[in-house]
Amino acid sequence: MKNAIDYEKLFNEALRAASLAYAPYSRFRVGAALLLENGDIITGVNVENRSFGVTNCAERSALFAAVSAGFRSFRAIAVATPDSDYPVSPCGVCRQALSEFMPPETPVIFGPAENAITYSTIGELYPYDALHELAGPR
Ligand code: THU
Repeated sequence: MKNAIDYEKLFNEALRAASLAYAPYSRFRVGAALLLENGDIITGVNVENRSFGVTNCAERSALFAAVSAGFRSFRAIAVATPDSDYPVSPCGVCRQALSEFMPPETPVIFGPAENAITYSTIGELYPYDALHELAGPR
């Protein structure tokens, strides 16, 4: 059996990453931590831009860093939003991007602090996902 996921550790890696966010416009820092099959963790942060639409969310920063490093399967993702006082879930664009690489049952956890984590899955956040048959050889 696979080892159980250490959600606290994963969340705390996301929280640690959030301190590196580049968010001078929103002042809303976000950190994401992706758990790889081998137990390693790859983090990402939101990277804003003075041309606001160029901003990249933490989830996609982590995902693109992981894929760029050769990893395409993930056991879970944690998102930490220390500047919120309620759970902030991944945006619609990030849900689509994560669904490319995550089966529906993949855990997605998010929250402002370790004692206030919401546990969900990508399938719950992004239902009726479709068109995987267009992917072709990966
Ligand atoms: N943001 C993320 O990085 N991930 C989320 O799940 C929510 C939003 C970023 C985008 C922007 O830099 C700031 O948070 C405010 O929207």
